Amino acid sequence: MKMQGRIIKMGFFALFLGISQAHAVDVVFLTQQGPQVSTKVLKTWSPDELTKISKSGGSISAQAMIIDESTQSLELNDRADVDLVTLYGEKEMARVPRFMIWRGLLKLEWNKKTKTLDSRAQVQQIFPNRILVPGEAFRVHNIQKIELAQHSWVYPGTRLSIRTNPAASRGEKLFTQSCLACHSLPNYKAIQPGMLTAESLKSFNTQHKAFPKVELDARAVRGLVAYRDALAKEKTVVASPK
Ligand code: HEC
Repeated sequence: MKMQGRIIKMGFFALFLGISQAHAVDVVFLTQQGPQVSTKVLKTWSPDELTKISKSGGSISAQAMIIDESTQSLELNDRADVDLVTLYGEKEMARVPRFMIWRGLLKLEWNKKTKTLDSRAQVQQIFPNRILVPGEAFRVHNIQKIELAQHSWVYPGTRLSIRTNPAASRGEKLFTQSCLACHSLPNYKAIQPGMLTAESLKSFNTQHKAFPKVELDARAVRGLVAYRDALAKEKTVVASPK
């Protein structure tokens, strides 16, 4: 009985140590030189600094922390080109389109006791037709690393070079900001733009019935199909230069 009590006490102590093991949060920049992709640490946020920039309730401005304060060493061009922010947590990760950050849709919460940074977002209510991702997909606990990148580096082969067709551009945004927000994560099936035919999108709503809010309307389908066609056309042109 006595022994058991001691083990339980030790367990609590270890748990306490584990929780209070504060660690820093790195903000890194993904950069591409030729085919080589490398990362550069832009800023390491210590627990003390995070405590300093958090409001009394623990909230931290994502724009201030991730963009304004962390990208000061970046060239203006690189800073402007960042359009995808990946949050790596202890267990989960999330792909956040940058516009959600400057619109204030990504919430960061710093827990001063456990010294952990969590994220959440509420997108559905605000952008019902722009971003088809349930807010839960942006929930990450105990964020350890935040990566800034261009989506075309993270998702090769998805970027349109010619943007003359507004429907295709809309489709590209929907694909990279919504579809890949889930389908680029571990545990989800990988998908490519080539799959976006009108025929295959017919089964979309049944494939996603687990997410009632992830629904395509006719306009979204037209955009995705136009995007697929435009990208296929560009690739043919590039593949057979005169
Ligand atoms: C909230 C997360 C989420 C979003 C957003 C999402 N999907 Fe899915 N999708 C899933 C899940 C979960 C499945 C079931 C299979 C799996 O685990 O990947 C699925 C299945 C699919 C499948 C069938 C794959 C197969 O082989 O069975 C396709 C195709 C697909 N999604 C395309 C899309 C497209 C296109 C978009 C954007 C318009 C999209 N998804 C947005 C989560 C998502």
